[in-house]
This record gives sequence, C-alpha cells and structure tokens, in this order.
Amino acid sequence: MPSALFRTKSLDAILADGAAPQHQLKRTLDAFDVVMLGIGAIIGAGIFATVGTAAAGDAARPGAGPALILSFALTAVACGFAALCYAEFAAMVPISGSAYTYSYATLGELVAWIIGWDLIIEYAVGNVAVAISWGNYFKTFVSGFGVHIPDWLSTDYRTAARIPGLFENAPHLFGVPIVVNVLAIGIVALITIVLVIGIRESATMNTGMVVIKLLVLGLFVAVGWGYTRAENWTPFAPNGWAGVQAGAAIVFFAYIGFDAVSTVAEEVKNPKRDLPIGIIGSLIVCTLIYVVVAIVFTGIIPYDVLVQKLATEQAEPLTMALQYASIERWGDLLVGIVALGSVVAHTAVLLVFQLGQPRIFFSMARDGLLPQSFARVHPRFRTPHVTTILTGVVVGVCAMFTSIDEMVDLTNIGTLFAFILVCLGILILRKRDPDRPRAFRTPWVPFIPVAGMLSCFYLMLGLPWITWIRFGLWLALGLVVYFAYGFRRSGLASR
Ligand code: ALA
Repeated sequence: MPSALFRTKSLDAILADGAAPQHQLKRTLDAFDVVMLGIGAIIGAGIFATVGTAAAGDAARPGAGPALILSFALTAVACGFAALCYAEFAAMVPISGSAYTYSYATLGELVAWIIGWDLIIEYAVGNVAVAISWGNYFKTFVSGFGVHIPDWLSTDYRTAARIPGLFENAPHLFGVPIVVNVLAIGIVALITIVLVIGIRESATMNTGMVVIKLLVLGLFVAVGWGYTRAENWTPFAPNGWAGVQAGAAIVFFAYIGFDAVSTVAEEVKNPKRDLPIGIIGSLIVCTLIYVVVAIVFTGIIPYDVLVQKLATEQAEPLTMALQYASIERWGDLLVGIVALGSVVAHTAVLLVFQLGQPRIFFSMARDGLLPQSFARVHPRFRTPHVTTILTGVVVGVCAMFTSIDEMVDLTNIGTLFAFILVCLGILILRKRDPDRPRAFRTPWVPFIPVAGMLSCFYLMLGLPWITWIRFGLWLALGLVVYFAYGFRRSGLASR
C-alpha cells in the first residue's frame, strides 16, 4: 500500500489522457486572452478591499501603514518565484489540472490528491470571499442611486450575528430569522450560466471587464495623485517589519490568480508559448499597478485616520480615500465610477475562478480520483458542465454562511501551500526527468524554487493560528475522502 500512495502518473500518460477525444475541450484562446484572463483573475477584492486591513491592521495583527508599498513588493517577489515555476510546468504539461497535475507527475498520487483538494480552497473558497465582497460593493454602488437592499438580503449569517438588531429585524420562518446573502448567490449563479455556455464567450466577457478595471484604477491614480501629501508617508512603517509581514500575508490575496490561467491550458491554441506569457505577463502588469495604487492610497489618507475609520465602519478603502480627499468637481461621480469599477473587477475574478475550479475537478475525475460524471463534457457547448454547476452551487451556498475575512485567510494559506509544492515539483522533475523538452525553463534552479518555497512559507507564518487549524482540518477531511474513494478507483490502480 505505501508504494501505491506514491505512484506517479507519467507525463506521457498525462498528455495522452488529455488528448483523448471524449475529453477534448475547445482550443480558442491566444496569448492576449491568456494575459487578460490572468489580469481578470488577479485584480479584484485584494486591491479594492483587503488593502484597508493590510495598511491599518485589525484586532489580530498590526498594520503596514504606508509601508503597504513594501508589503506589495515583498509578496510580488514570492509570487514571482512561484510564477517562474508555474510557467515551466504549464508549458511542459499543458493540462487543465494545474498544480494537481504537476504534482501527480512528480510527487505521487497522495500528494497530488492533497494538492487537488487544497486547490478547492484557492478557487472555491477564494470565490466565496470574492462573492461576499462583490455583494458589499454592489450594495454600496446601488445605494448611490437611492436603492437600498435590506441587510437581511445581503449579509451572511456569521457577520449578521455581529450586527445589532439584524436578526431581530429580519423576517422569520418558524421562529428562525431569514438572513440570506442573495447578492452573493445571484452573481455566482449568473457567472455559472455564462461558463456553461462556453469559454470563448467567457473570455470575451472577461476582456471587457479587464479593460474597465484598468481604466478605473488608472483614473484613481491620475486623480488621486493630486491629493497625496508627502507627510502622509511618514512614518513610513508605523509598526515596523511586523506590520509589513502581516500586510504582505493579507495582500497576497490580491496576487492570487496568475496561476489560475494554467487551468485553461487545454483551451489555449499554443500553450507552450502562451501560458508562460500569460502567467508571468499578468503578474508583472498587476505588480506595477498595485505598487502605484498603494503609493497613491497611502499618500491620500493619513495612517491614523485610516485606522480610526476602519475600526468603526465597513468601508471600501479606495472610495473612502477619494471621499477623504473631498474632491470638489465631480467628486461624487468619481467615487461612483470607482465603486462600479470595483464591482466589475470582482466579477472578472469570480469568472476566472469559477472557470478554474471545474477544470481541476475535471482533471481529477479523468484520473479516477473523483466520480466519472465530473469529467463529462457538454455535447453542445464542449464545457465541463457538471463540475461547473456543482462549483456554482457549492460556492453560492457557502457565501450565505461565511465571513469574508476568514475566507481570505483560508484562501491565502491554501494557495501558498500549493505554490510551495509546485516549486518542490520543479526541483524533483529536473532531477528525475532532466532531458524532457521544456518550452520554458525556470532560471537559476535550484535557487528560484527554493527561494519560492521559503518565501511562501514565510508568508504563511504571517497568518493567524486559527487559519492553520482550519487548513489542517480541511486536509484531514481530504484524506478521508481519498481513502474512501480515490485510492481504489484511481486510473493508476487499474493499470
Ligand atoms: N486576486 C483576487 C482578488 O484580489 C483573488 O480578488
């Protein structure tokens, strides 16, 4: 049995399975689409929502202050190491399972399963957080038009428990208060429908949303720059390095997504060339944008004002900064535009992540670790419709009950763990299969993969202990599922 746990699937078998006609997805995406999908996945709740907590801190951790800029740079370096490793794997194994598939080829079935199970945290749990945040911003946006969505229709149970009077004022059914985040479920349902219909349509919709969010962030920087004050950048790091590290562990959420493009590998026309371009290109573009936005954001609003505001209200940091600047001409309009851009940005992230999760399930099912029905492709749309709908249902339902902060922390720890295993996989495969053609080679091996593993682990250490416990429990549940199902049904077991 122990050797069975470490059985690996050869790269040739992986590539052959991906080429089987009954499992073929439609190849329609080019390099531009892939970079756009990357940016679509990356810029979202992270830059629009979590920067506030990262700069100001909260009850559990110190804030970075203006050194938020350093937090972004630090996280970009860690992500850069991981991105270079992802690029080598994605070009060599252009299969939709991403890190799951790479570890199946290198670290063996048990680790592959753990990674596949872990990626549910990155994609599905991450999307729960983004869907909740989407609902908050949407509510703020429509309130500018005098439309007020009741709290009981736009809040999750956990957050509602903290808001005085919310349960009492909600309608009751058999004595139980009805509190449902209809907004979060609504957007997830809409996106699920788009994804079942087709990836080409999804990519087009994504490109439009990416253009809008880039314009909106550009507008924020262009207008906001005139309202920055040099004195707001001093002291630069009010909580020293501890604040920078804690900030980095939070804003990591803002970077998640460059790796998600690897899940559309089987739908890219020239994956060997376009996947490395997509992964590294989108990370570089977003890093530049984040650093500039962080400079302007921390330059507009003084650190102590930010701390005080975030302690007492649930605010959108970027629009809050603009409101603080009291821009006379068109100020309200500008705030409205940035709020709308935030809604659009969240939607694009939801789209790419809702697209990634089913493709990982799809790969795991194709290997026999999940039921075969998960690998079904829709006869007309050629999309993995079973897993797309399943993901939509799970994410939508979870968004009703969970709080965004907990979901962000859990997403970060799960994703950092996946990055570490991908870096490790590069080291192993360079030893085990050095001569396999690599369309893209991670430079300076072993330095880059080792630095990637260490820096990601360092960021994990910046997360609260409760997050570590939740993560451990999730992995334990995964092991139970594996031994109850996948271990025996695995395609490798029957070979
Ligand atoms: N990077 C994505 C976001 O910030 C997950 O929303």
